[in-house]
Amino acid sequence: MAVAQLTLDPAYTIAPVDRRLFGSFVEHMGRCVYTGIFEPGHPSADADGLRGDVLDLVRELGVTTVRYPGGNFVSGYRWEDGVGPRGDRPRRLDLAWRALESNAFGLNEFMRWSSLAGVEPMMAVNLGTRGIEAAAELVEYCNLAEGTAASDLRRKHGVAQPHDVRLWCLGNEMDGPWQIGSLTADEYGRLAARAGHAMRRVDPSIELVACGSSNSDMPTFAAWEATVLEHAYDQVDYISLHSYYDPEKHDEASFRASAVDLDGFIDNVVATADHVRAKLRRQKRIKLSLDEWNVWYQSRFTEPEDRAIEELPALIEDDYNGTDAVVVGNLLISMLRHADRLTVGAQAQLVNVIAPIRTRAGGEAWRQTIFHPFAHTARLARGTVLRPALTSPDMTTGRFGEVPSVDAVATHDEESGALTLFLVNRGTEPVPLAVDLRAFPRHRLREHLTLSAEKPELTSVPMSDGDEILLPPVSWHALCLTPEESR
Ligand code: AHR
Repeated sequence: MAVAQLTLDPAYTIAPVDRRLFGSFVEHMGRCVYTGIFEPGHPSADADGLRGDVLDLVRELGVTTVRYPGGNFVSGYRWEDGVGPRGDRPRRLDLAWRALESNAFGLNEFMRWSSLAGVEPMMAVNLGTRGIEAAAELVEYCNLAEGTAASDLRRKHGVAQPHDVRLWCLGNEMDGPWQIGSLTADEYGRLAARAGHAMRRVDPSIELVACGSSNSDMPTFAAWEATVLEHAYDQVDYISLHSYYDPEKHDEASFRASAVDLDGFIDNVVATADHVRAKLRRQKRIKLSLDEWNVWYQSRFTEPEDRAIEELPALIEDDYNGTDAVVVGNLLISMLRHADRLTVGAQAQLVNVIAPIRTRAGGEAWRQTIFHPFAHTARLARGTVLRPALTSPDMTTGRFGEVPSVDAVATHDEESGALTLFLVNRGTEPVPLAVDLRAFPRHRLREHLTLSAEKPELTSVPMSDGDEILLPPVSWHALCLTPEESR
């Protein structure tokens, strides 16, 4: 049986683990908000209608940052509709999903939910049907203490303290023809620069994310990023990436190796951003925000035009299996591997809509298979990302040719001494793993968390010295090691 050989050395560092990598996304789409995180009258809901059972799972998932309110939804959204007395809020037709939006849940409810969930909010502004003024006023409403029309309006709405939102997305997928108000790269780049400029005049300390391409298959991919950044380089801190992986779009082996695609996508965006940096002769480096990523059975999706208008459509409530969880675990490995440039992530979405957490209206909330690799990577990835030296048997894929079956990354928490190895075997043969810890002589393997296509439920195996590590076909693993003296 071909063996994978992995060597770890603390000198092979990539970057510190940025906790923002473990973000998620709440969009007014389907049942993510309504009957997802918000359901007045649910047995677990508080006086504001926030579901306590979902909050518990969100905390367990270990999400650090949550992007809101869209997604495609934001490109037709008036944020003013969702603030102030509920009885005065308009009922609107949401053009993104052709759904009825009651506006019973809005900005201040989201901020209260974020603080209960212990997450940092990441707001998106509408650059589809709106523009500079509405974006700047939203920053004013959120971040100024008092004494201006928008900040005093927030106070009138019963929120005395500013929300102090740091991270802002300048629109959503503005290159996509499906986007309400989509733009060319020149149009969007100029608008993003001007909106960012105005928003920073309100609060110079905010961090801005420009829209990259909606995915790497877009015909304008890379040219879009280059043009947008040529316009907005000085105003923005991040360029966004969105990447969904459909289990039914290509051959199965290519799906299992989706992280190969994500690796290439990230590398290409870094190269493009650095090309603009060179061209403009700037010192600053643009960081990356992978603010939508996941497994999505996209070929089963019904376009909004082909659906009737509904209030709570059950949109893209995909059920996930063990293979999907292994792919999610591998995408997280790819993200950590790029921690030197990729510092913000948001799995799309958090509840019900292609989500790790599902709910029944009036009923229970539960974890999907993809919950586990996310929760344990978010919990265990601490300190500094290390690049392991790895040799692995290859597997054959339709899209990428021969690729290594085993993929891995490690993190080392210098403070606690904890060393964690995140691994996948994305091939269909079992692979024995030999780990060389010559630079960590006192570290011992304590725990082995795993799941696989065959056994999608998370299993924790206590480990002792000398135990053989076998990576079953299509499996995800977290190997936890600690130094002997801290036992
Ligand atoms: O997450 C679902 C949708 O996918 C988002 O609204 C959009 O940004 C993307 O195309």
